[in-house]
Amino acid sequence: MPSDTTAPAAPTRVQRRRHYLMCRPTHFEVVYAINPWMDPAKPVDTDLAVLQWERLRELYVELGHTVDLIEPVRGLPDMVYAANGATVVDGRVLGASFRNEERRPEGAAYLEWFRANGFTARHDPQYVNEGEGDFLVTDRFVLAGYGFRSDERSHQEAQSFFGRPVISLELVDPRYYHLDTALTVLDGDEIMYHPEAFAPSSRQVLRTLFPDALEVSAADAAVFGLNAVSDGINVVLPEAASGLAEQLRARGFNTIGMDLSELLKGGGSVKCCTLEIRR
Ligand code: ARG
Repeated sequence: MPSDTTAPAAPTRVQRRRHYLMCRPTHFEVVYAINPWMDPAKPVDTDLAVLQWERLRELYVELGHTVDLIEPVRGLPDMVYAANGATVVDGRVLGASFRNEERRPEGAAYLEWFRANGFTARHDPQYVNEGEGDFLVTDRFVLAGYGFRSDERSHQEAQSFFGRPVISLELVDPRYYHLDTALTVLDGDEIMYHPEAFAPSSRQVLRTLFPDALEVSAADAAVFGLNAVSDGINVVLPEAASGLAEQLRARGFNTIGMDLSELLKGGGSVKCCTLEIRR
């Protein structure tokens, strides 16, 4: 194949060290179904889930990031999806409030972790919001999903608490019930997303605000390729999203594919297991 001399050079990437909070899937199981990925009739290998999760945790440490752990609570199998536990911007902690009864106690458990770890600016939410499942932070904005889980009114609540412009985006495909299953922040104000997961008006908003965004195919979205974590250079994503990995490498990212098959049975992957603490 002739080399393509007209392609723009991939930008130089810069890594920013991150601080993550994770929860070991000690008590992980699928005993209820609150999203289309969950099937309580399908067996889950909890030991394998722990192994796969450990690899993710170790990878973050190898990449130079700080990983704190919150104690898993028996009877809260979805607590492993730490991204839902809160949203932290400028050291300010917006607590989560879950739509489904089964997950409701997680909100207090996460907020208590932040209290015990010295975060004094904490907000107990008035409206349902499922943390970083539906709030994703870019340099300029907080992108906020609604349609399945978070209450749209929580967007205004987040804007007041963080003092950052919140952009409301409507999710329309039940498989992509959280924003972090349909959109990833790659760096600064650079994002990737699966357009079909959004209502047409929200697609238009995304196109206007992020004209250079990477658009992700149905095939890569369906293997949870967008449930990824980027530190500015390294993009950690489900290994099955191979087409997406290639697109990312062409943009100058280093991609690291992970197998989180067991956690996928709960409807989550890399990003769901990772709550970012922004100071
Ligand atoms: N079983 C969990 C739920 O449906 C999965 C949460 C996935 N987390 C995420 N950040 N998308 O609530």
